[in-house]
Amino acid sequence: MTFSGYYSGRPYCSLEMSVRTPLTTVETVHENRSWLFTVRDQYGEPDEVILVPCEDGVEAWINRCTHEAQRFDTGRGVAMRDGQLICPKHGSMFDACSGHCDNGEAAETTLPSVDITVDDGTVYLTDDAVTFAHEGGIDGDDESDDGPASTSHIGF
Ligand code: FES
Repeated sequence: MTFSGYYSGRPYCSLEMSVRTPLTTVETVHENRSWLFTVRDQYGEPDEVILVPCEDGVEAWINRCTHEAQRFDTGRGVAMRDGQLICPKHGSMFDACSGHCDNGEAAETTLPSVDITVDDGTVYLTDDAVTFAHEGGIDGDDESDDGPASTSHIGF
C-alpha cells in the first residue's frame, strides 16, 4: 500500500525528520549582501551565523574569523568584494562559496559552515547541531565598537 505524505494538511517526508526553519530568501541575501542570525547549540550557547551570496545561491558561515574572534558582520553587514568576505580586523579574504582563505593572517583556514537548504527561493536552516534563535546578532544590538549601551535613565 502506498502512503501519501500528508498529515494535518501539511506535507511531510518520513525519511527526513530534521526540522527546517525558514530564515529569509535568496533574493534578500543578494540584495543586502549578507543576512545575520543567531543560533543556539545543544547546550544553549549562542553563536552568530551569516548568509552570504554564492553565485546564484547562498552559503552559511559562522560569523567569526578563523584568525581571531573577529566578527565579519558587526551589525552593518559583511564587507565583501569579488565574491569574498573581508575580515575587518586584518583584511584576510574568504571565498564566499567555499569559506576558504588563502591570504593574510588567516591563510590556509576555512570558515566553519552551517547546514542550510534552499527551496523555491527560501533559505532554510537544516543543521541538526543548532536551533534558530533570532534574526540579527547575539546582542540584538550593535555594541561592537562605537555603539555605547543605551543609558536613557533620567536622574532626578
Ligand atoms: S582577525 Fe581576521 S585576519 Fe586577523
